Amino acid sequence: MVGTENTGLRGIRVATSRISLVDGEAGRLLYRGYAIEDLARWSTFEEVSYLLLYGQLPTAEQLRSFSHELASHRALPPEMMRALRAQPLSAPPMAVLSSMVSLMPGTCPDRDDDSPEANRRKAVRIISMMPTIVAAWKRLRRGQEPVDPDPRLPHADNFLYMIWGEEQSRTMNRFLDVALILQADHGFNASTFTTRVVASTRASIYSAVAAGVCALSGPLHGGANAQVMKNLLDVNDPDSVEAWVAEQFKHGRRVSGMGHAVYKTMDPRAAILQSMAHRVMDVRPEFRWYEMTERMIIATQEHFRIAKGREIYPNIDMYTASIYHAMGIDPDFYPAVFAMARSAGWTAHVMEEKFPCHPVKPVLYRPVCTYVGDVDLEYTPIEKR
Ligand SMILES: CC(C)(COP(=O)(O)OP(=O)(O)OC[C@H]1O[C@@H](n2cnc3c(N)ncnc32)[C@H](O)[C@@H]1OP(=O)(O)O)[C@@H](O)C(=O)NCCC(=O)NCCS
Repeated sequence: MVGTENTGLRGIRVATSRISLVDGEAGRLLYRGYAIEDLARWSTFEEVSYLLLYGQLPTAEQLRSFSHELASHRALPPEMMRALRAQPLSAPPMAVLSSMVSLMPGTCPDRDDDSPEANRRKAVRIISMMPTIVAAWKRLRRGQEPVDPDPRLPHADNFLYMIWGEEQSRTMNRFLDVALILQADHGFNASTFTTRVVASTRASIYSAVAAGVCALSGPLHGGANAQVMKNLLDVNDPDSVEAWVAEQFKHGRRVSGMGHAVYKTMDPRAAILQSMAHRVMDVRPEFRWYEMTERMIIATQEHFRIAKGREIYPNIDMYTASIYHAMGIDPDFYPAVFAMARSAGWTAHVMEEKFPCHPVKPVLYRPVCTYVGDVDLEYTPIEKR
């Protein structure tokens, strides 16, 4: 039975937040009041993390000290590195990442301290260590030794350094920095809502973020960018894109990287990444993925218009796919890179949930569902069934 109860909480306001504004009608995204276009142009991931966590842009001195604190937590404690090395090589990156975040309290000096200051320190540890976990797992899985983080490098540069074992070009480093900025927060999406639900039980920030990683791993959320790249690799020929898209629509399949639950116009993050994806061709001229991406978008829009009589637009995942590919990141690691970025937003949301400004909502999230199952059934002993 389907009733008006089956909202999936769409459009239902469940809390107030000061962290990000997602305006689906206008295609606008603000972090703490600042347009992402400005942040993508002028800022860095470190500065955006500070902004999300502290609620305001840092001074030069505050940013220096915050960046230093972030860099100082990059190295994994030996216990965590041992746990990482003990994983079977077939373990999916997001499963590894959520497990490793769950293990963080074991080596955290602030473990039993739930004060705002301790939670902020834990947030920094999470944001700082997640790239080390992702890069180390990527290398271990390929039979390579992990590369120690370099505390002298900025956050994005250091991640690519740990992936490749050598520093990457300024262009690639900046592309990653911008991609991380653009994915740092996005209102009450499924994974952020998950972290807030977990935090509302007064569970630790580590549990909340680990749950966020799990929620992000699904193909309709953080897994979409990996699916986009798998699709591009499967098609592999620009001239076959249109036929491939037609086939998807014939079988009622969704084209990953298209559509959005909130934006009913162009995803503003996709608009910024589109030019970056195009510029990747300056660095990697052999790349056909941008051309294929654009053809996939146009073909999907044409089919969608015919099927639904309305427009559909590319989302952020459509463009991060080919950009990450150019950086040498394997598709099944894309959601983990997304999680690295979103760790800034998740931790800010956990802080807001644990230490709310007024008006304060009831402590626990506790929605209700309409029960439509059987009632008053007679229990039959097992030997009689
Ligand atoms: C993101 C997503 C889950 C939003 O879903 P949604 O809120 O239900 O989307 P809408 O209400 O705008 O559209 C629903 C209709 O459009 C269709 N549709 C939505 N996205 C589609 C896509 N990418 N390809 C083909 N059809 C799509 C759905 O099949 C649905 O049709 P129906 O009503 O006949 O069942 C959906 O667009 C999707 O699955 N996209 C692909 C996965 C993806 O890129 N996710 C990353 C999001 S950042």
